[in-house]
Amino acid sequence: MKKIAVLTSGGDAPGMNAAIRAVVRTAIHNGIEVMGVQRGYAGLINGELFPMNRSSVSDIIQRGGTILRTARCLEFKQEEVRKEAAQILADNGVDALVVIGGDGSFTGAKLLSKLGVKTIGLPGTIDNDLTYTDYTIGFDTALNTVVDAIDKIRDTSTSHERVSIVEVMGRNCGDIALHTGVACGAEYIITPEKGYDKDELCKVILEGKKSGKMHNLVLLAEGVGGASELAKYVEAQTGIETRATVLGHIQRGGSPSAFDRVLASRMGSKAIELLMEGKTSRVVGIKDNEIFDQDIDEALALDRKFDEKLYEISEEISK
Ligand code: ADP
Ligand code: F6P
Repeated sequence: MKKIAVLTSGGDAPGMNAAIRAVVRTAIHNGIEVMGVQRGYAGLINGELFPMNRSSVSDIIQRGGTILRTARCLEFKQEEVRKEAAQILADNGVDALVVIGGDGSFTGAKLLSKLGVKTIGLPGTIDNDLTYTDYTIGFDTALNTVVDAIDKIRDTSTSHERVSIVEVMGRNCGDIALHTGVACGAEYIITPEKGYDKDELCKVILEGKKSGKMHNLVLLAEGVGGASELAKYVEAQTGIETRATVLGHIQRGGSPSAFDRVLASRMGSKAIELLMEGKTSRVVGIKDNEIFDQDIDEALALDRKFDEKLYEISEEISK
């Protein structure tokens, strides 16, 4: 292993920079050259590679976003385009590629590895939608951002004795809604995994009001339905003033939490360790606080898991 490349792909996530830093510095520490690829797979197929050294990653551990930029590149689904990418890596003398991204980016890496490119994936997404790992890089920071925002919404919601419906990100995964719902004491959590019944929701809100609750918080995962429409329905059915907030991209930014910085550093270091052991087509994860690696095909084939117990806890303690 003489030279590797690293890229970030898909939605950015806080902690991606800490992961890039760990990859670059661990590689250099072990005498391996590093090239950064700008703009994910889109930059790769355009040959946007540049050499990185220790100082290329100075002063980034605390920064959100990704210094390598990121992109969504639909052409990468075509085998011809992936072959061009493999050729570009070979032309640059690159022996292996570290991909930091979510399941889409991992699928790209998996297919690239079928063309003979050595690949390692690091899970970078706020969604936490990769079943093989307990945590993805960026999830913890996003949770803290959402909790901070909801605590502020609660102040005004309580003052006006309103219902607040807060829509959070997560694509097809309800983890952000579930975890922040528990952390903020939401009366109702709506996720794609559990679904919901509008009339039951209104019943819970009315019962809460009757039992003296000064406000009602509903966490809504994106993809289940729009917050504004639901707010109108709830207000019409319950007679209680209801406001909708869509938190949007605020959830993707900001300085990574200590947890995400440490996780990213451990995972970045593991990526280089694996490559030095000659391993390829692996993804790095964390389980029971141990960093581990798994075959990329196996990891992507796992069915989504939903934390039923946490959902049950929320039902028992927050209504
Ligand atoms: P994430 O990695 O966060 O899940 P996306 O799903 O948008 O984000 O995927 C990021 C990129 O990964 C895509 O823009 C594309 O370049 C690549 N990718 C996704 N799915 C595939 C696929 N089926 N085949 C090849 N490349 C893919
Ligand atoms: O995958 C991360 C994520 O923020 C999802 O939660 C969300 O559905 C999506 O990306 C938004 O993507 P875009 O960057 O295109 O707005």
